Formats: sequence, structure tokens, C-alpha cells
Amino acid sequence: MLENRKILLCVSGGIAVYKAVALVSKLSQAGADVKVIMTESAREFVQPLAFQVMSRNDVYFDTFDEKDSSVIAHIDLADWADLILVAPATANVIGKLANGIADDMVTTTLLAATAPIWVAPAMNVHMYDHPAVKRNIDRLYGDGIRFIEPSEGFLACGYVGKGRLEEPEKITALVGEHFTAAPGPLTGKKVVVTAGPTRERIDPVRFLTNFSSGKMGYAMAQAAAELGAETILISGPVSLPVPAGVKRVMVESAKDMYDAVLAQYDNADIVVKTAAVADYRPKHIASSKVKKKDGESVLELERTDDILKTLGSMKQHQLLIGFAAETNDVDTYAKGKLEKKNVDYIIANDVSKAQRGFDADTNAVTVFGKDDFQQQFDLMPKPVLAKQLLELIVERENIHDR
Ligand code: CTP
Repeated sequence: MLENRKILLCVSGGIAVYKAVALVSKLSQAGADVKVIMTESAREFVQPLAFQVMSRNDVYFDTFDEKDSSVIAHIDLADWADLILVAPATANVIGKLANGIADDMVTTTLLAATAPIWVAPAMNVHMYDHPAVKRNIDRLYGDGIRFIEPSEGFLACGYVGKGRLEEPEKITALVGEHFTAAPGPLTGKKVVVTAGPTRERIDPVRFLTNFSSGKMGYAMAQAAAELGAETILISGPVSLPVPAGVKRVMVESAKDMYDAVLAQYDNADIVVKTAAVADYRPKHIASSKVKKKDGESVLELERTDDILKTLGSMKQHQLLIGFAAETNDVDTYAKGKLEKKNVDYIIANDVSKAQRGFDADTNAVTVFGKDDFQQQFDLMPKPVLAKQLLELIVERENIHDR
């Protein structure tokens, strides 16, 4: 099942470390080549030798102990892996990863990774419920990290509840499914997703922009790739990692985004316009820094092209999905955009409400379609929502027969 697959297991310190030894055994039995990195506290529970014997590979724990002088170990391990598992993942390692802290071999390698990262938490039930841990988990979801949720049962601390590391057999089965998954419903289809804000320059040091974080668009791209699509992500300036399997094109202004989207349009099957595109840009871009003067100043603006409306007017076989971020009269504006832009779906969210604004890791939306179709999605992490949105559209549109 896992023949020729390279799995990097990052082990952090909790009593569940002993189950990680069994996990290495299961993964190896399934044919995977497993390498292990341990945190310092993991080594308090189990000796590296146990993992070395099970994996038949060196075990890593010291960032500065370079076993092979021709490579830098944490970069080399990150590049080597097809999949990285963090199991057990403590609240501490989750917190560090969510905040970009790299102070040991495990966290440094995780930051250098481009392979998918799966996190299997194990901790006391109250720790797992703590708002800080939940916040960090939401943030990691936003970064495209997948979680293998802990199961319920007796915990080593004496409590009964959610917090047990998922069983090694189950984790191995999930990893196996990942590598042997049947083609997704979007296999063979090309999906173009736009994300993030645009920047409209005023002069060499200033620009107009908006609060879009790109998280929803990146989640849509990730979901499209996970459903099997060839996915092109056209992104305004944001600093999010590229989702696995997605080709990203970075752009700056509304004009750049217009050109990049139009270049992909002819052979696109689905276009998802999540980007918050500027409606206006400065009429003149000053070639040198504009100096302040006494009194008021007026910046003259001109309209940018409406990319989605242009796509709607040229539409042939493509399925067009727009977004509408509103602060009031959401339904009316969303339905208006559906008509005016000739799109198939508008996904609307009320950005004035908590936890669904531009930078939130969660979102709640209403989907509007032709013939008064309307469906609501309650608050959930953006990657989970993105998958559900695309699945809804795949199901309603009979994508393969289009
Ligand atoms: N959009 C676009 N090009 C623009 C403006 C918006 O492609 N120049 C797309 C967005 O990517 C989104 C949809 O149109 O999918 C709606 O964007 P939104 O900003 O909500 O609406 P606008 O059309 O700009 O209308 P208004 O500003 O009046 O709400």
C-alpha cells in the first residue's frame, strides 16, 4: 500500500510517544520508508533507538548534528518526504507551528517543508479545548495543514475525553488512502482560482489595497486540487504557502490579474473568482514619491475592468463562480451580481459579522445560483467550507458531462 512512499514522522513529547513507535512499525510493514525526528521532550519518554530499530533509519533530534556534511539535514529531510506526520502533536508543537516558531529540529523541518503536513494531536481534554489551542488549530487549517483528530477514551492524565492519539492502524490506513485514492470528481478538469487583494500603485512607495488575506481563495484552490483538478491559483500579494499540487501565479494589480485570468480562460472548465479586486485605481501613477503639501489633497481615481463581468460576457463552456463580500443587504447585492456578471454561482458572505471577515480562519456563506437556488453554510474553517462548496457545485452541475 505504501511501497516507495517516504514518510517523515515528527514525534513530540507526550505519553503517546509509545504509540508512535507502533505507528512506525505499521507504516514500515505497509511498505513505507520512514524517517523520524524527535523533540527533546519526546526523548524523555522513549529512546531514539526504539525508532531507529523500527524504521531502520537514523533518528534525528539535534538541528546542529549534521550526519552528512553534503546536505543540511532539516532541509534535506523536508525535501525528502512525500508526507510529513506530526504524531503525537502536543499543544506546544501545534502552537509553535501555528506561529512560525522554529527552535528545534522538528519545528525547523516543518517550516522548511513543502510536502503535505498532517498533525495528529494528543493531549489532555482541557488542553485540547483551550481557546489558544483551538485558535492555533484553526490557523493551521488556514495554512492548509490536515488534522487527524484525537479519539475519545481514557487519557493518561486520568480524564475520559477527547485527546487520545488516533490508533496507529487508523493513521496508517488514512495515509494509505491518501496515496491510493481514486481519481477525484474534478480529475481531468482545469480550475482557475483567484485569491487575495490587488495593489494599485499611487507612487513608488504607496498603493491602494483592501483587507483580503487570500485565505478563502487559497482554500478553494487547495480543495480543487484535492478533488483532482489541475489547479491554477492567480494570487494577489499575500504571504500564504502554495497548497499542495497547485500552480500559483503571483500578480499585483487588477490589470495584472485581468491579464493572468484571461490568459487561462479559454481552456478553463471552472473559474472561481475569490479575489477582492480593486474597483478603482489612481488615474496617474507618479514616477517619483509624491511630496506632501499644505492643505488637502485629492487623489483622482479611474475604474478598473471588472474581470468577472468580462468572463461572464465571454462565457462558453466555462462554469463561473464569483464571491461577494458585503456588509449589508447581502442577498439583494449577491443576486444582483449573479445577474449582472452572468455567472453561475455567487458565494456571499457578510464580512461585518464576527469570524467571517477577510482575515478570519473561518467563514459562513450563502450560495446563490440560477433559478433561485440558495444554500446556506454555517461557520466552519475555510478549508472545510471550500471543499463543501466545490462538492456542492460538482454534484449540482454534473461536471463530467459538461
Ligand atoms: N470582481 C472582478 N473584478 C473587479 C471587481 C470584482 O472580477 N474589478 C469579482 C470579484 O472577484 C468577485 C465578484 O466580482 O468574485 C464580486 O466582487 P465584489 O467586490 O463583491 O463586488 P463588485 O463587483 O466590486 O461590486 P461592489 O463593489 O459594488 O460591491
